[in-house]
This record gives sequence, structure tokens and C-alpha cells, in this order.
Amino acid sequence: MTFSRFFFTLKFIVLIVHYPNEEFCVQTLLVTGGAGFIGSNFIRHMLKTHEDIRIINLDKLTYAGNPENLKDMAADPRYRFVHGDICDGILTDALVRESDAVINFAAESHVDRSIGKPDDFIQTDIFGTFQLLEAARKHGIGRFIQISTDEVYGSTEDGCFREDDPLMPSSPYSASKAGADRLAYSYFVTYRLPVVITRASNNFGPYQYPEKLISLFVTNALDDLPLPVYGDGLNVRDWLFVLDHCEAIDFILRKGEDGEAYNIGGGNERTNLEITDIILQTLGKPDSLKKFVEDRKGHDRRYALSIEKIEKLGWRPRHPFGEAMRETIAWYRDNRPWWEKLKSGEYLAYYKKQYQTL
Ligand code: NAD
Ligand code: TYD
Repeated sequence: MTFSRFFFTLKFIVLIVHYPNEEFCVQTLLVTGGAGFIGSNFIRHMLKTHEDIRIINLDKLTYAGNPENLKDMAADPRYRFVHGDICDGILTDALVRESDAVINFAAESHVDRSIGKPDDFIQTDIFGTFQLLEAARKHGIGRFIQISTDEVYGSTEDGCFREDDPLMPSSPYSASKAGADRLAYSYFVTYRLPVVITRASNNFGPYQYPEKLISLFVTNALDDLPLPVYGDGLNVRDWLFVLDHCEAIDFILRKGEDGEAYNIGGGNERTNLEITDIILQTLGKPDSLKKFVEDRKGHDRRYALSIEKIEKLGWRPRHPFGEAMRETIAWYRDNRPWWEKLKSGEYLAYYKKQYQTL
């Protein structure tokens, strides 16, 4: 080989290795857990912004799954709901076979519940992800997005987590998510399954089951009920508006690189007391509704993400925090029938046990 030919070949190889992935195009997308908070916002976003897409939503309808979250999309011929469990290998096999890509949102998602009873977290978050990965491997899926979380990194007093930092989860929830996160990665390394992992920070927005900080506090404040602040209220979370999160997942589905993990953060670090005050002030409710209660066991002090990697690829959040909070609070104020129905039965039993001292 001549010298110039050698350099030409070398340049060609370098180009192949470094040239950004061609955009992934999806026709039939299997979304799991799409009747929950983020999944339902995501399906609505995708149906509104991608004309030619077809979406299958596989959801077990646990206490957190609610078909009403997608009532406005139910008649869309591009949308199909399947009631079932991601742990059911026969079902996941059949649905993955029909799909070009999978986005796995399905999970048990509440830290407090994982402290009380971790069983379902291990089963759904780990074993369910395994069943989906197996089906994806068998049918040679074009893309598998595993929705992980910033909680897999654990807590940090200062600095921000980057994607290559060690995972140090500290609750049964975050440990089960870390297991799924790394299991998905192992399918990339071992079987070359085109897996991409996303790790988002705390989401807020419409359709969030009223057990998480913002949805619980807003709905309690609307009913003049106490807002139970754990410990000293100085724990910090980085808040991400759910529509920003949906846009980021859509972006990663098309542009993410196989085998990579991407942090998705809002850049809105706030203490729980700051969040509580915003809610009380926005609704014109008295400070006396704020009640300090016993701290959560193993309570992570602070989550913070570097989003440099996804920013370099071309995504950044675009909803200002203050506006998104006002919009969210207004949504719960204007959609009382949606959450009032949920605050009954199983919810009340959970609430009574969780907040005994209130
Ligand atoms: P959610 O609890 O509101 O919804 C979970 C959905 O999964 C529900 O519809 C439920 O019915 C369904 N589901 C549960 N077990 C299932 C099973 N075995 N088979 C099929 N469906 C099942 O949760 P969310 O807040 O929308 O979170 C969605 C995903 O995003 C989760 O994987 C969570 O770990 C991740 N995440 C959430 C946040 C957040 O702030 N909420 C942040 C980062 C990552
Ligand atoms: P949460 O919404 O449960 O999300 P995560 O624990 O997954 O970050 O909680 C957010 C923060 O709010 C966390 O520091 C715990 C705190 N918190 C309370 O102080 N009181 C509550 O009733 C709840 C549900 C959470």
C-alpha cells in the first residue's frame, strides 16, 4: 500500500468511527409504563409531534397507572393500549416483535414505598427490564431506551454527577433502577443490543400521582391539609419540567449513541423548603400548613447532574422553572377531579401509614 493510500484508508476509518450516528427513525414504538406520569406525557408529546408514528403502550395499571392520563389520545388510531405486565415474557415477546424500538418507563417509582416494601421494585424494575431486554435481543430491536434516574449515583454534598461517575444508589428504589441500568448496559456490551440509557432528575408537571413532593404538596395545599416536610427540609433536588424530559427522550431516541448513558437535568436545584414556599405563596396559603415530620430513612441529601454530554449533542431544557411551576400548580388547581379520585382507597391507607404523626 502506498503512503497516500494508507492515509486515505486511515482517514476513512476515522470518519466512520467519529461520524455522528445517523438519526434513528421509528415507526412502531413500544412504550412501557405509558399510563404513568412521565410515560403518558411522553406518549402525548410523541403523537402530537410525529405524524407517522405508531405507539403501543404496555402498562400493568398499578396504583400509579391511570388510563385517564391518556383519555384525550385513546381514540387516536396510531395509539394502542395493552393491559399487561413487563414481567410476562410471552406478552413482551409478542409486543417487541411488532416494534422497532422500546422505551422502558415501567417501574415502581416511589422511594418511600420502596422503603416500606421493596418486593415489587425488585420484580418490576429489574426482572421486568430483563424480560424486555431478552425479547429485544431475540427480535433484534433497532433501539432500546432504558429510562434510568439520577438517583443511581446516590447523594452528593457538592459538585455534579457525570455519566461515568460510579453508581452508589442508597434506597431500594434507586438500587433496583441501578440494577436495571447496568443490566441494560450489559446487553449492549455482551450482545451488541442498541441500548441507550437516560438518567433524569426529579420531574414535575401535570398527571403526577399525588404522592411525590410537588404533586402531594400542591394538592394538599389546595385542600388546606398539612404539607409534611421530612427532616430539616434542606435536601436538594434538581427539578426538571416533564415536557423538557419528554423532549429530551425524543431527542435521545433519534440521536443518542448506542451503549451511552445521558444525564437529563433541569438546572433547577432547590431545597424542599424553597419548593414548599413557592407552592404556599402561589396558592396564597398560610405558612402554618408547613409541618416538619420525621425524616425519611437513608434520605439522600442532594442530587445534582452535569448535562454537558447531552448539551454537546444538541439538547437543553427550554422551560423556565418559575413558569413551569406556575403552570403545574394551575393544572392541579384546574383538574381537581383528576386527583381527588386518586386520593381514596389504597392511597388513604398508604397515606395514613406514611404520615402517622400528621
Ligand atoms: P409512575 O409511577 O407515575 O408510573 C409508572 C408506570 O409503570 C405506571 O403506569 C404503572 O402502572 C406502570 N407499571 C408499574 N409496574 C409495571 C409492570 N410490571 N408492567 C407494566 N407496567 C408497570 O412513574 P414515573 O414518575 O412516570 O416514572 C417513569 C419512569 O421514569 C420510571 O422508570 C422512573 O424510575 C423514571 N424516572 C422518574 C423520575 C421522576 O421524577 N418521576 C425521574 C427520573 C426517572
Ligand atoms: P420525592 O418527590 O419522593 O422524590 P425523590 O425522593 O425520588 O427525590 O421527594 C423529593 C424530596 O422531597 C425528597 O427530599 C423527599 C422530600 N419529601 C418530603 O419532604 N415530604 C414528602 O411528603 C415527600 C413525598 C417528599
